Amino acid sequence: MRILFMGPPGAGKGTQAEIVAGHFGIPAISTGDIFRANVAQDTELGVEAKRFMDAGEYVPDEVTNLMVRNRIDEQDAEKGFLLDGYPRTLAQVDELDGMIRHTGHRLDGVVVLTVDPVELVARLTARAESEGRADDTEDVIRRRQEVYTEQTEPLIEVYRQRGLLCEVDGLGEVEEVTQRILDALAGVEES
Ligand code: AP5
Ligand code: MG
Repeated sequence: MRILFMGPPGAGKGTQAEIVAGHFGIPAISTGDIFRANVAQDTELGVEAKRFMDAGEYVPDEVTNLMVRNRIDEQDAEKGFLLDGYPRTLAQVDELDGMIRHTGHRLDGVVVLTVDPVELVARLTARAESEGRADDTEDVIRRRQEVYTEQTEPLIEVYRQRGLLCEVDGLGEVEEVTQRILDALAGVEES
């Protein structure tokens, strides 16, 4: 099973990715989480990524692509993976296509979580208080939303045309959303 989760900041990608990946017994790979872990450990990658993350901008494709390539080469991802927050640009789509083709597999499905902007801001503002993530400030939240609209929304059409898109309503209780995702993926055939 090779699936992707897309959706604007705060849509619930990370929350749902952990649960759904557990359900399928595959690793949930979050580019945002890997970057944050590197920032916390003050690695070279972390220092480079932090400048972009703190401003709500995307980390350059070359850096992100290499990081994902290394991660999905790890043994636990051999049987499949759930990517949370990658790809986010058209260049990343091409890169991922190459990575998957190289292993002789194919992408099975793309889940897009939809949530209206007012709820998104409410969720991230609430998280700012509980977790204090560096990029959950009002200005940076707004910029992350703009960057998503400009650079990532166009990917939805790409995957729709490939017949891979599962659009899922992300509003409601976490368990309800999980069930919708599993229902949407029930039609997806494993490669
Ligand atoms: P990333 O960490 O992926 O952040 P994001 O896309 O802004 O999304 P979030 O993690 O904020 O939201 P989410 O959709 O995961 O929702 P969550 O489950 O947390 O990326 C951070 C940065 O890293 C980027 O800005 C960029 O700089 C860089 N980056 C990452 N990937 C990159 C890439 N591919 N290319 C280049 N740069 C990249 O939920 C949000 C909140 O809502 C939580 O508090 C949660 O508890 C709550 N919640 C979840 N579900 C529900 C529900 N159903 N009802 C009510 N509350 C809910
Ligand atoms: Mg997340």
